[in-house]
Parts: sequence; structure tokens; C-alpha cells
Amino acid sequence: MRCCVFSTKPYDERFLSEASANHALTFLEPRLTIETAALADGFDAACLFVNDEASADVIERLASMGVRFIVLRSAGFNNVDLDVCKQHGIRVARVPAYSPQGVAEHAVGLMLALNRRLPKAYNRVREGNFALDGLLGFQMHGKTAGVVGTGLIGAACCRILRGFGMTVLAHDPNPADGLDVEYVELDQLWAESDVITLHVPLFDATYHLVNDDTLGRMKDGVMLINTSRGGLVDTRAVIAALKSQKLGALGLDVYEEEDGLFFSDRSGDILGDDTFARLLTFPNVLITGHQAFFTREALTEIAQTTIDNLTRFEAGAEAPNEVRAD
Ligand code: NAI
Repeated sequence: MRCCVFSTKPYDERFLSEASANHALTFLEPRLTIETAALADGFDAACLFVNDEASADVIERLASMGVRFIVLRSAGFNNVDLDVCKQHGIRVARVPAYSPQGVAEHAVGLMLALNRRLPKAYNRVREGNFALDGLLGFQMHGKTAGVVGTGLIGAACCRILRGFGMTVLAHDPNPADGLDVEYVELDQLWAESDVITLHVPLFDATYHLVNDDTLGRMKDGVMLINTSRGGLVDTRAVIAALKSQKLGALGLDVYEEEDGLFFSDRSGDILGDDTFARLLTFPNVLITGHQAFFTREALTEIAQTTIDNLTRFEAGAEAPNEVRAD
């Protein structure tokens, strides 16, 4: 199978090359957009990551060039127009799970770092400043965490937080078995949680799940963590809530306008996104650039599953990881 790999980083090339037995992989640095779609000419498959744009016009372009398969190196597939794929007979597969515990661990890492002001403490100590004022945190044990979405990652997060001795309120239309948590309606979760962490996929129904209205229902000083997808949070609303101190801390691994921003070194560029720039001014905001998945274990699983998806597609076989339009 001839497959072009968009948005390639050195680590993608390394792990995919190691996993690939007999597929002809061509590694391309550009992100897939309508401007770069022509690079897929002559390939049977395109391998995409989270910020590649497989929108309707891009899919139509890929189909016209003979691309028949899309293999995603991600779990989320909100960036792919599945209806248009179906119209053009393009099969799509994803990597449904890769080290969900690693993503949950990163979400909890953001909580701990925000709570105990670790970035500030790190800088202070390096400068010989051992004062503690401004570093006051709270004990997680005995507090209430709200976990929205208890699929693979949310469930792993629930287990870690229960291990801390937190009460965990969870919300999910499909409750998981065997989790020592209380499933509640969202309103109760917003109202009673000291820390809220989002682990739902981005759908139309979950777009801007955190907005002016839902923020208003939360406890004063609540901590919000989003390692799922940027579009779950209305950034303008959280900035207002940070300014009014409704929101006590914000940890983000994803950002609604991260396409074209994350995954590259932009340290020499002028930041053109004023909203993102405003977020960076708050001392109680900690942002990482979509790195929650980034563990050796996850990259190995992503590469193996992606290659397996290609092999099954090439053989015309069922692909258990196929995603289809409803
Ligand atoms: P999953 O599919 O195992 O679980 C998602 C859960 O959300 C399901 O249990 C589903 O019933 C629930 N859900 C759906 N709609 C809901 C709603 N309106 N309210 C509450 N729950 C709802 O997915 P998984 O593996 O746990 O991943 C979750 C998300 O994490 C992915 O969709 C992806 O966007 C994100 N992710 C982020 C990564 C990162 O590096 N930052 C890495 C991997 C995934």
C-alpha cells in the first residue's frame, strides 16, 4: 500500500518505520489542508493526525486523486468529514486507544502542577528565591472531582483521583462498570466539583460544553482541566471567568484554535492569536501543546495499529477500528 503520512514529525517517522513491514510510507512534513492536498496524488492512503484538515473539499480532492483510505494516528476523528468520505467510498480507520492511562496521568499532572504552583516554584528555586507566599495549594484528598466522560481516558482518570482519596462525580450517557464513582447529571457535577476534567469527544452536542452558562453553575474558584479537544471549551468564556476569578485555575492540553499553532517550534514568531496570548498572561493557567498522548507506549501502539489498519484495508478485510458516518 502506498501511503503518504501528513504532519510527520521525526518521532512519527521512527515509530511508523519500525512498525511497517511492507507498506511504502512517504513522510510529508506539511499539515493536510486544501493547499497541501495535492501532495497525496498517486497514493492509495493518507495517514493523518489531529490537526490535519479532512474537510469536505479536502476529501473531494483526495478522492479525485485516487486516495481510497484514510488512517488516523489518533482516537478523535472530528477533523474528518465522514459523510463525504462515505459518498466517495473512502474508508477511514483510527487508533481507538493508545495508552489512555498516559493521557489521564497528564490531566492529573496538570491538576497537581496548577494546585501546587509547580512552574512558579521551579523558577523561584532556580533563582534562589525560597519564599512560599503565592505558592499556597489545597489538599486533593477529601475534595470533589467531576469527570465528564468516563470512556477509556476518563475511567483511568477516575481511578487515579479515587486513589488520591477524592470523591468523584462522573457524567456519561454510557456509565462504565466497576468504577467507584457516583454518576450524576451535569448540573450537579458543575455545582459540586472542586476540580473538573473533560474526557468527552468533540461532537456538535459537546461543542462549547464549557461556556458562560455552565461556568456560572460551577463553584467559585473551580479548577478546570481539558486534555480532550479544544472545541469543548469556549475560550472567550473562560477568559472572562478567569478575570472575574470564578475560575481558580485552568489547565489545557488542547485549544480550539490549535491547528497551525501546536506541534511546531514557533518561539521565533510573533504570536498572532490574541486570545491565546491573553490566556498566557494568567498566572493560574497552565498550557501544554497537545502532549498528553506523548509517551513511548502510546507512539508504539499508534504505529502498530495504524499499520494494522492499512494492512486490513489493503486485504479488503474488515477493520475493527473503522469509523463510519451514522
Ligand atoms: P472514549 O470513546 O473511550 O470515551 C469517550 C466517552 O465520552 C464515552 O464513554 C462516551 O459515552 C462519553 N460521552 C459521549 N458524549 C458525552 C457527553 N455529552 N457527556 C458525557 N460523556 C459523553 O474516548 P477516550 O479514549 O476516553 O478519549 C476521550 C477524548 O480524549 C477523545 O475523544 C480525544 O478527543 C481526547 N484525546 C486527547 C489526547 C491528547 O493527547 N490530549 C489523546 C487521546 C484522546
